[in-house]
Amino acid sequence: MAEEKSLEEVLSLPILLADRVSKSAREAEASKLECLDLAKQVDRLSQMLRAAVRLPWTASQSHQTLYEQPIRRIVADVAKNLDRALTLVRKCKHSGVLRQVFSITTTADFRKVSNLLESSIGDMKWLLSIYDFDNGTNLSLPPIASNDPILSWVWAHTAMLHMGQPKDRTDAALELASLAKDNDRNKKIIVDEGGVPPLLKLLNNANSNEPNSAISVEAQIAAATALFNIVTNRDRVRYVVDTHGVPIIVHVLTESTIKVQIPVANLVARMAELDPLAQEEFARENVTRPLVSSLAMDTILDDPNFLQSGKTTIHSLVQLAGQTTQPLKSNHTGSFSYNSDGSGRSGSGSGGGSSTTNSHYHYNSSNIRKERDNETPEVKQKVKVSCAQALWKLSKGSLVNSRKITETKGLLCLAKMIEFEKDELQLNCLMTVMEIAAVAENNTDLRRAAFKPSSPPAKAVLDQLLRVIQDGDSWTLQIPAIKAIGCLARTFPARETRIIGPLVLQLGNKNVDVATEAAIALKKFVCPENFNCLEHSKAILEFDGVPPLMKLLRANDWAQMHSVVLLCYLALNVGNSKALEQARALNALEGAARSVVAQNPGLRDLIVKAMDHLTLYQPGVPHPHMQPHLL
Ligand SMILES: *[C@@H]1O[C@H](CO)[C@@H](O)[C@H](O)[C@H]1NC(C)=O
Ligand SMILES: *[C@@H]1O[C@H](CO)[C@@H](O)[C@H](O)[C@H]1NC(C)=O
Ligand SMILES: *[C@@H]1O[C@H](CO)[C@@H](O)[C@H](O)[C@H]1NC(C)=O
Ligand SMILES: *[C@@H]1O[C@H](CO)[C@@H](O)[C@H](O)[C@H]1NC(C)=O
Ligand SMILES: *[C@@H]1O[C@H](CO)[C@@H](O)[C@H](O)[C@H]1NC(C)=O
Repeated sequence: MAEEKSLEEVLSLPILLADRVSKSAREAEASKLECLDLAKQVDRLSQMLRAAVRLPWTASQSHQTLYEQPIRRIVADVAKNLDRALTLVRKCKHSGVLRQVFSITTTADFRKVSNLLESSIGDMKWLLSIYDFDNGTNLSLPPIASNDPILSWVWAHTAMLHMGQPKDRTDAALELASLAKDNDRNKKIIVDEGGVPPLLKLLNNANSNEPNSAISVEAQIAAATALFNIVTNRDRVRYVVDTHGVPIIVHVLTESTIKVQIPVANLVARMAELDPLAQEEFARENVTRPLVSSLAMDTILDDPNFLQSGKTTIHSLVQLAGQTTQPLKSNHTGSFSYNSDGSGRSGSGSGGGSSTTNSHYHYNSSNIRKERDNETPEVKQKVKVSCAQALWKLSKGSLVNSRKITETKGLLCLAKMIEFEKDELQLNCLMTVMEIAAVAENNTDLRRAAFKPSSPPAKAVLDQLLRVIQDGDSWTLQIPAIKAIGCLARTFPARETRIIGPLVLQLGNKNVDVATEAAIALKKFVCPENFNCLEHSKAILEFDGVPPLMKLLRANDWAQMHSVVLLCYLALNVGNSKALEQARALNALEGAARSVVAQNPGLRDLIVKAMDHLTLYQPGVPHPHMQPHLL
């Protein structure tokens, strides 16, 4: 890759060219008047080019980085036009006969080049004006961008973002945010023209002298919003990751006030959703910590003892597990409501044992705490919704994030939220649990570490999943809860009937989707990969699962497929049962087999095996000799 020329080099070429044009024009023998006019235009250009040479110096004087994109683009165009001017004036070197030998210049040639130079003059004038930060943003269009105003607006706002006054930077970020929101092309232009690095910079140290001042908060919100509007596809997320955006984003999330955390958490959620690499990068920066901390704000989990080195003591967890009926919300008389020994305590003094608080929790420093206590409940609710959504998107398909959430007090916190919150916050927390469970389904280590049924956080989560399933208020909640339990099927001991009963009940849910999810979950209890499949199969029969299953078999294709599979496993595990015989399971299987196999050829063997097995155990039924060729 060729190294990029420095800005000085880029500018020196047209300055040199301008001098040559000027000299040649003044020495011309033919078309003297026209040449002189060109020389005047070129002199103006030359002046402005020399002014541009001072820009890097001006920027370095104020310790700023110069925004170079528009300079490079416009100056390259100016050089091209100067080149044409040079060719033209050289043709005028000789007069009379000699001139004829070379070529003839016409008035039209001069007019054309003169117009080009006039455009360049307009471009340079505009260019210098956008680096004049005392005069506001110049929204007039330079000739080079007359067909594409967006380009020049992005240039002007980005220049302001780099080098303007704090207030102007915030406005520039808001303008970019609004341009980015309009369409994909604008987003691409902003990225291509270098808008992302100064947005990250604004986000990072909006006003480092006065962090959390009003002006700083506004700037950070504007920057986070702009970035959020820009990163709507994987390429652009990747660009932010490659620009080292992730550590900045996590740092801001950890250190800033609630109002800033909201858009930043939304940004995290969007990036994590669109790019697995971003998920990994966020994991490396431990983003789950500030997210869980904010989620736990003002709850009994918000106790410094819980934050100690990111771990919880077994003692405190056991205490907590017994406190499930405690109201979650403190009433803001202090920073937390309950000490882990259950005694009420107020004030933010963290007491003896917690002086070793991990540095990652500096977020909980008293200043921020004070500020946070002044926020309205609505704002606090909003940040929790956003943080929970970020945790959801981070955990989806990500072992490392799922592990990090469960390693701290994350699971317990999620359980509490599912217990006491409602609407979007409750749903986001439930979705997070579901995604973590889905990851744990295929990862023995995580499953054992996080979901051992005897561990208090796992127990708290399980209680809530079961409650949501049994409450049955809303299928949007029931479905993820059922899915989560299904994913954890391999963690339950043989006689864990607390789980099977509620799931079996849902097989009969009026909502076919809920009932089908229950069948899918139960399938994971009775499939051969489940060590306890025999006991679980018996439990399903004991809870009278067969009749609703038979009904579900006739609901729709999707429901039919999953209930057939569940029925097959039951047949293979407990084929000799009265329940199956009474329900005429063999007939039902026979009836459904053909259409299920037509759509899912992979199920053929399982179904044939199950039918053979049922035939074996049901002497009453004449051996149909399930003709496999019929399938
Ligand atoms: C904006 O740029 C134009 C040239 O395109 C210039 O004439 C005008 O003076 C500039 N306005 C400001 C406020 O600098
Ligand atoms: C601001 O722009 C105006 C043109 O709109 C110009 O005349 C003036 O010189 C500029 N002011 C400064 C400080 O550059
Ligand atoms: C994230 O947490 C781990 C474990 O506590 C720690 O070793 C690591 O340094 C942290 N990373 C960052 C970037 O803070
Ligand atoms: C808040 O605390 C006061 C006493 O400090 C108490 O009377 C009140 O019931 C509490 N409110 C809630 C919602 O817990
Ligand atoms: C996890 O395992 C289940 C069955 O054990 C399988 O159906 C699923 O596709 C697996 N998911 C991933 C992401 O590997």
